[in-house]
Amino acid sequence: MIKLAPSILAADFRDLGNQIKIIEDSGIRYLHIDVMDGMYVPSISFGAPIISSIRKTSNLIFDVHLMVEEPIRLIKEFADAGADIITIHAEACKHLNRTVNYIKELGLKVGISLNPSTPLNILEYVLEDIDMVLIMSVNPGYGGQKFINNSLEKISQLKNKIDSMSLNIDIEVDGGITQENVEEILNAGANIIVSGTAVFKGDIKENINSFNNIFNKNILAREKQDE
Ligand code: DX5
Ligand code: ZN
Repeated sequence: MIKLAPSILAADFRDLGNQIKIIEDSGIRYLHIDVMDGMYVPSISFGAPIISSIRKTSNLIFDVHLMVEEPIRLIKEFADAGADIITIHAEACKHLNRTVNYIKELGLKVGISLNPSTPLNILEYVLEDIDMVLIMSVNPGYGGQKFINNSLEKISQLKNKIDSMSLNIDIEVDGGITQENVEEILNAGANIIVSGTAVFKGDIKENINSFNNIFNKNILAREKQDE
C-alpha cells in the first residue's frame, strides 16, 4: 500500500488545525511531524505541546520524526503527546538497540532514519526489530531542499534486502519529493512518501489529488507488469 505522509513543517502555523483537517478530509492516513532540536540538526521546529494539541482533533497516524540528539531522553514525552510511530536517527543514538526497544515497550511502532551519507549496513543487527526505515533524501534540518539522487540506489538496495529476508518493513522516504520525481522513488521500492512543500504550497487538496493520481497509475502499471 502506497501512502502519502504530509509533513507539517511546511504548513501555515496560523491555520494548522484547518490545514490538518483538509488533509484528513482528503483521505490521507499519515501525518509526518518533524521535531528538530537545534543540536542534531541546525534548526529548531516544535515539540510535544504542539503534538498533544493537534492530537485532540485528529485521528491521523502521527508519524513523529525525531531529529534530536539522544532521542531516548524524550521518547516518553512524545509517546504521551500522542505519537503512533516514532522514528529516531541511527546516528543520534549512543545505544540504538536500547532506544528501539524502549519505543516498542511503550507500545509504539518504531522507525530508524538514515542520513544521506549513512550506509545501510548500520541496520544489520536491528532490521528485524523495526517497523519502518526512513531514508533521508536531503540532509535533515530544513524543508524545501533538493532531492539527492543517489538515494534511489539506496532505496532499491534496502528493498532488496527486506524482500530477501521476507520482512514486513515500510520504506519511507523524506526530503525534496514532488509530483515530478515521486514515481522513480516508488519504482525504487518506497511505500511511504513524505512531502512538505509539494503538499502545503498552493492548494493542499489539489496537491494531494495529483500525488494520488500518480500513486494510482503506478499501482496499475505494476499490476499490469505482474500479469
Ligand atoms: C527535513 C524534514 C522533512 C521536510 C520535508 O529535515 O525531515 O520531513 O519537512 O520537506 P520537503 O518535502 O519540503 O523537502
Ligand atoms: Zn521528516
